[in-house]
Amino acid sequence: MNTMKDKKIAFIGAGNMAAALIKGLIQDGHPAENITASDPDQEKLNLISEQTLVHVNTDNSAAIADADVVVIAVKPQIIAAVASGISAAVAERRPLVISIAAGIPTSHLHQWLGEATAIVRTMPNTPAMLQAGATGLFAAANVDAEQHSLAESIMRAVGLTIWVEQESLIDAVTAVSGSGPAYFFLFMEHMIRAAKSLGLPDESAHLLTLQTALGASRMALESDDNPATLRARVTSPGGTTEQAINAFEAGGLEQLVMDAMRAARDRSIELSSQIQD
Ligand SMILES: NC(=O)c1ccc[n+]([C@@H]2O[C@H](COP(=O)([O-])OP(=O)(O)OC[C@H]3O[C@@H](n4cnc5c(N)ncnc54)[C@H](OP(=O)(O)O)[C@@H]3O)[C@@H](O)[C@H]2O)c1
Repeated sequence: MNTMKDKKIAFIGAGNMAAALIKGLIQDGHPAENITASDPDQEKLNLISEQTLVHVNTDNSAAIADADVVVIAVKPQIIAAVASGISAAVAERRPLVISIAAGIPTSHLHQWLGEATAIVRTMPNTPAMLQAGATGLFAAANVDAEQHSLAESIMRAVGLTIWVEQESLIDAVTAVSGSGPAYFFLFMEHMIRAAKSLGLPDESAHLLTLQTALGASRMALESDDNPATLRARVTSPGGTTEQAINAFEAGGLEQLVMDAMRAARDRSIELSSQIQD
């Protein structure tokens, strides 16, 4: 039977995100011989081929000549040129195309690659580098069920996958998981600073904060209860946690988070329209 691991995957652009995906796929047991990475930078290709044993090529069209899936992993600013450059090879081979480029709508990819091309647009995040990413995916109308699951299994190699039904929700995904790691880093920064001001040594403030973030995240992911219930459970009336939560609420944390994420979503829409102009 033809399985996911038999599929030939070509990466156009062998930068950070492509390298993370390739490493994730190989860890998942995808044979290196079924993966090709294409990039103009031969040194980058040498490195990735040494690390992972995948095929490499400096010619994008040659790299996709026998591909079942093409992952476009170049910077959004050059995607028009890159997509137009591979359009003949895509028309010939008809692979599933997965784009990880931020802000590039499927309508533009269809213009460059042909309306018949099956396209999945995705929005991964940086923890993908540790196979702990979260990726939002949107499938164009002509993507079939097998291609759906193929796209999902490829992105799952670097973490969690969530489908959105409307493409506009990719801007919301950007505001949640795309930019989200930085929100938690910011919160950690403030907790570390506060911990030090309470007298803890630097290293202790740092480690206690980070381990607490990890523990809370794991508890929330592994529990059947939602974060609000978990919080209520650790907030005894009259206790220490309650004092801190009261202070956060009095400071308007809920509205602040709402405003921050709306601003990120709006900027995602704005950047996307600038790239397209
Ligand atoms: N990193 C993230 O956290 C993240 C999150 C979500 C989405 N994304 C998206 O992922 C995509 C890749 O990001 P990245 O961080 O992996 O960027 P990156 O490290 O710069 O990788 C892009 C690669 O494409 C190569 N390239 C340039 N021109 C090319 C061409 N004509 N044909 C083939 N390859 C070419 C670049 O080579 P040179 O370096 O030689 O130019 C570079 O190796 C972007 O579209 C970004 O929006 C990234």
